[in-house]
Amino acid sequence: MAPRELDEHNITEAVIERFANAPDPRVKAVCTSLVKYLHDFVREVRPTEEEWGFAIDFLTRTGKICDGNRQEFILLSDTLGVSTLVDSINFPVQPGVTKSTVLGPFWTQEMPDQKLGDDIHGKMKGEPCYVFGSLKSSNGTPLANAQFDVWHSDDDGFYDVQQMEKMGGPAGRGRFHTDKDGKFWFWTIKPTCYPVPTDGPVGEMLRGQGRHPMRPAHLHFIFYADGHRKLVTHIFDPTDKYIDGDAVFGVKESLIREYKEHAPGAAPDGKKMDVPYATINYDFVMAKEG
Ligand code: BEZ
Ligand code: FE
Repeated sequence: MAPRELDEHNITEAVIERFANAPDPRVKAVCTSLVKYLHDFVREVRPTEEEWGFAIDFLTRTGKICDGNRQEFILLSDTLGVSTLVDSINFPVQPGVTKSTVLGPFWTQEMPDQKLGDDIHGKMKGEPCYVFGSLKSSNGTPLANAQFDVWHSDDDGFYDVQQMEKMGGPAGRGRFHTDKDGKFWFWTIKPTCYPVPTDGPVGEMLRGQGRHPMRPAHLHFIFYADGHRKLVTHIFDPTDKYIDGDAVFGVKESLIREYKEHAPGAAPDGKKMDVPYATINYDFVMAKEG
């Protein structure tokens, strides 16, 4: 039985005791840890009443700014490194398998269907870029006809969904399938670095922490294949000035890949280019389910 008189030294035990009859042992374990660490945090920080009120208001505003298109809590998790921590716990490194990284807020359920070789840049500005590579299982088998989604920002650092009026429809995104040998190729434009949204509580937090909001340039991918774990990943540009300072801690060494720059002429797919263009190649490997 917990003491009747509670203070900063015995309150934690008293709260945890109330979980004794929790029907689900996982809920009991999670709530016990939560209270333990939350109380230790409060004992360490020793917030004033104003500071605690600010914290409650910050979380309230974080919730209120969320809607169908904006998820400030995910952004908070991303910028505090929690998304990457959860990802690394759930997708431990497997030799030879492509590493995963954060999903981010700009993936959309509806992706325009594209054919291999299509150009997905729509009305986005930027240097033309030919993206090609392959998809294999961890046992080396090519993954034929596997669905994958691609999306990225434009030359100004915006996704299509952030400038729908200007883009007039989807741009810099598409849903493809690998060919019979697990290969893929398509055209788009080379993305640039961009800031995560800073007009809400997370922006306020970043400014308070004296941090920049920038993500290094990257292409997003999600691969799906029967019998394999979904692969959510990026390819990062090593020349980007934010490559070592990603605001959401998503960069991994093996996901960095150099673009090759080309003078006008015949591109790898035979297309005649009358302006300079870039190419990038990446071979992805998916982990088997289980
Ligand atoms: C993104 O890469 O699209 C992204 C990821 C996390 C937070 C904000 C943006
Ligand atoms: Fe992104």
